[in-house]
Amino acid sequence: MDHETIGSEDWDELILNLEATIPVYDRINRFATIGQVDKWRRMVRARLPSEDAKILEVGCGPGSFAEDVSGVDLVCLDPSVLMLEAAKPRVNSKRQERGDSEVEFVQGKAEELPFEDNSFDGTCSLFSFRDWYDKRAGLGEVLRVLKPGAKVVIVDPAKMNRIHGVLGWFWMRFWVGAYARIICGVKDHPWKWLTKTYVTFGTTRDYVRMMEDVGFENVAAKVVFPGMATIWEGRKPES
Ligand SMILES: C[S@@+](CC[C@H](N)C(=O)[O-])C[C@H]1O[C@@H](n2cnc3c(N)ncnc32)[C@H](O)[C@@H]1O
Repeated sequence: MDHETIGSEDWDELILNLEATIPVYDRINRFATIGQVDKWRRMVRARLPSEDAKILEVGCGPGSFAEDVSGVDLVCLDPSVLMLEAAKPRVNSKRQERGDSEVEFVQGKAEELPFEDNSFDGTCSLFSFRDWYDKRAGLGEVLRVLKPGAKVVIVDPAKMNRIHGVLGWFWMRFWVGAYARIICGVKDHPWKWLTKTYVTFGTTRDYVRMMEDVGFENVAAKVVFPGMATIWEGRKPES
């Protein structure tokens, strides 16, 4: 496992562990981010196109972000059937209340997106990018399915440097880990895996470079909360 790739056995185990977090996902997420996660989700929504846009969320998980996306056509993709099953009733009941169209839920991976070229007006990925087993390939696929000029928005906890990584490890391993153990009620709780992906995830600059290498333009990153949330944005070139 490094800041670009996760081996296939590790990735399979990661997915199983992520699935085990479904019942407590939102609770622990709020704790781990000191209640900031909802604000970061709003920041991503504000950066996405609205008004008749077709948006893809890659790695929708249990629907924590998707449930509050309104006024656009939304497609939610995740490799985990269990995640999609958790997300579907939650997201669609909220959308129905608001009069939004039903979301299309698709099983798939960032690295092999099952969509035509130039399909979306925007894509987003929240706390999922660090789980992609081949981040460069996934970004390439995102670029392919975006329409010319359309935007990608990603949020995940990048580090500033190695020292920052060590501090983050303590935070995740002991503070968040202890809370997760209490909430999950088991010693070998699944949150442990999130520490692994957190530790191997790269710096804000690593992924700015990767997005530029893959072919995005106007790439920008904002460190919203050091070690907890960086928001990256980029556009597919017009031609
Ligand atoms: C921590 S959850 C994030 C859920 C949600 N996006 C949110 O805002 O909280 C990460 C999700 O990414 C998905 N994921 C992991 N690897 C992926 C990949 N290669 N392509 C797409 N999604 C992936 C996982 O199945 C999981 O549901």
